[in-house]
Amino acid sequence: MHLPPHLSLANTPTRIEQLPRLSAELGVNMYVKRDDQTGSEISGNKIRKLEFVLKDTIDKGCDMVITCGGLQSNHARSTAAAAVRLGLSPVLLLKTSGALPVPDGNYLINQLLGAEFRYISEEEYRNRRGEIMEEIKNEMAAKGRKAYIIPEGASDGLGCFGYYNCFHEIAAQEKQLGLTFDTIVTAVGSGGTYGGLFIANKLTGAGKRIAGFNVCDTAAEFQERITAELHEMLAIGRTQIAFTPGEIDIIDGYVGIGYAQSRKEELDFIAKIARTEGLILDPVYTGKAMYGLYHEIRKDTFRESQHILFIHTGGLPGLFPKREQF
Ligand SMILES: Cc1ncc(COP(=O)(O)O)c(C=O)c1O
Repeated sequence: MHLPPHLSLANTPTRIEQLPRLSAELGVNMYVKRDDQTGSEISGNKIRKLEFVLKDTIDKGCDMVITCGGLQSNHARSTAAAAVRLGLSPVLLLKTSGALPVPDGNYLINQLLGAEFRYISEEEYRNRRGEIMEEIKNEMAAKGRKAYIIPEGASDGLGCFGYYNCFHEIAAQEKQLGLTFDTIVTAVGSGGTYGGLFIANKLTGAGKRIAGFNVCDTAAEFQERITAELHEMLAIGRTQIAFTPGEIDIIDGYVGIGYAQSRKEELDFIAKIARTEGLILDPVYTGKAMYGLYHEIRKDTFRESQHILFIHTGGLPGLFPKREQF
């Protein structure tokens, strides 16, 4: 695989830690990779993708980035923080329904970072976000600025290299730790994290199970979306490898009452993990994915897995706006 050039922004390698009490309860060896600790303002999984995408932004001579997400988007926050550090101006296209809340969590951090906000409805976000980002880019060009559009979650061909690299980081840590993870688990929101891990597993012939829990949409939609992202990635990487969408192992059934909406049992589960392992999961991604994994192990659908590595992809700021529900 030809690796495109990238910046070094994340604190890596991130630690791999054991989850002893959860392992004892479930009868399987559970580990967590602390990608929630890739940084502070830039923390979480997005920064690994942004290392590639922002390098391209700079190489193309852009002075501004435009990206999109929900009001509490971790991706928007990581992008804004990394952009400011690199001297680029961030414009965030955020989806909202109704009145704007008091700034909190990621949205507050984005205000502090001086990001420029544009707000659109859920429907516009679903149907026209790409077009709207192009309109903003043209508007900025008329003012003499050169903007770079980063798609949702930085999950494009370039972004997928972030977790391709992470897979190799895990392989090096396996050697140091003297153990092999037969299974890697991640939350799936726009697909790039899963995609990078999946293709690296395939290309190295490591034969691990790469399982994803979708936190929005459906497994079938993600199989299609990740396939498209990976074709783009393979073209950039000048590599060919055959795979079918059916191999993309996305476990449906844990979106709950909707994207970024929490059920009581999910919040109770986050509190349980906090109290037993001292590990704080977020309510939108890792809380739902770990909740899903816990229930799937109990349903015996992970019976072949002995050593499971769960990627903590971050999202801590998203916890605070949920304070009343907790
Ligand atoms: C904290 C967190 N975890 C997981 C994900 C999902 O990763 P991906 O968008 O690569 O599927 C996201 C973003 O969507 C996120 O912000």
